Amino acid sequence: MIFTVNEEHFVGNIYQRFPVNVAKGKGCNLWDTDGKEYVDCMGGYGVALVGHCNDRVVNAIKKQAEQLITCHMSLHNNSRLEFLNKLFTIVPQNLNRVFFSNSGTESVEAAIKFSRKYTNKKGIIALNGAYHGKTFGALSVTYNEKYRKSFMPLLDGVTFISYSDIDKLDDIVNNQNNDIGTIIVEPIQGETGIIVPPDGFLKKLRTICDKYNLVLIFDEIQSGLGRTGKMWAGQHWGVEPDIMCLAKGIAGGVPMGLTLTRSEILDCIKVGEHSSTFAGNPLACAAGSATIDSLVGDNLVENSKKMGILFKEGLLGLKDTHKIIRDVRGFGMMLGIEMKFDIKDILFDGIKNGILLLYSGKNILRLLPPLVMDEDISKKSINLIDRVITSEEKRRNV
Ligand SMILES: Cc1ncc(COP(=O)(O)O)c(C=O)c1O
Repeated sequence: MIFTVNEEHFVGNIYQRFPVNVAKGKGCNLWDTDGKEYVDCMGGYGVALVGHCNDRVVNAIKKQAEQLITCHMSLHNNSRLEFLNKLFTIVPQNLNRVFFSNSGTESVEAAIKFSRKYTNKKGIIALNGAYHGKTFGALSVTYNEKYRKSFMPLLDGVTFISYSDIDKLDDIVNNQNNDIGTIIVEPIQGETGIIVPPDGFLKKLRTICDKYNLVLIFDEIQSGLGRTGKMWAGQHWGVEPDIMCLAKGIAGGVPMGLTLTRSEILDCIKVGEHSSTFAGNPLACAAGSATIDSLVGDNLVENSKKMGILFKEGLLGLKDTHKIIRDVRGFGMMLGIEMKFDIKDILFDGIKNGILLLYSGKNILRLLPPLVMDEDISKKSINLIDRVITSEEKRRNV
């Protein structure tokens, strides 16, 4: 088929777009329409968790597609029941209710709505990342600092504070005007540049929530499901939330959002107070079951940890040889390389050299490759990153 216009003609200019026309994917690789191969460290912004076209997921989707594609939550369905049974073997034990939706944003919005109803308090504290004294954006796309002003009405009642302001939490909670009932945080912040909280930070949040009866929400949309080498990023510090938000890779690439809660939180929502037409879709549920089978049966969480150590060692090696790298951080398959300069040219050079890299802000390379990473692809990625950073140094004459 010959196309006479490109996608921009129809979709508007609201995404940072790259000149790659993706035709197919398998595992950690993508191929464009000319057959050129790429290592995918962009990983569909974290969605390609169990690898592109994971065999288990493909087979489950094929099988389910022939039986039933849609089934509203007002009816029962065995694909959904099977998924629920698998899901509740991997989530923290105190979370025993779930609300289905179709994206991360919906999952966070539901979490906030449920928590506000449960606590009968509107006020929310949202933690921003603060790294090397700089304040980064936000906890999710919905809360991106850059767009906060234009979407402020949506965020009515949300107080944003940075990691470094943790000592002010007591005061903010105690100020009656704030009417605080909820604290929400990404245990490791993705969108804002792979920001790992200081040790003791999440424990402190938990303690404050317990002290004042606040609901603690973990947005594990990017950091969860083995991404950081543990099933949940909160486990790195032994902290469990009252509500947990999931989306991205939970259904192997098929849209699904989940808001998991302690039973008493979701149980305070009455029939008709919240819903979603696509929720608990059988196709997404079949893909979700296959994703959990792959995470558990193919030891992907363990692999993420192992490959993450190897990958990070390689990146730290690059930091020793390239002065323009300021920092390397993260766990598992959630890694960040903070550069001293704008990374735009590196991203485009990566495409030329066959590696897709993700950005966070202007100067941070973010890597969210699939958890099926192996040693060969890890080494290849390091070599390609070395090559594009060397070219950047030449361009900048440093
Ligand atoms: C941590 C986190 N929360 C929420 C979202 C929003 O998810 P979605 O784009 O599926 O609405 C994202 C998306 O990148 C995210 O990384």
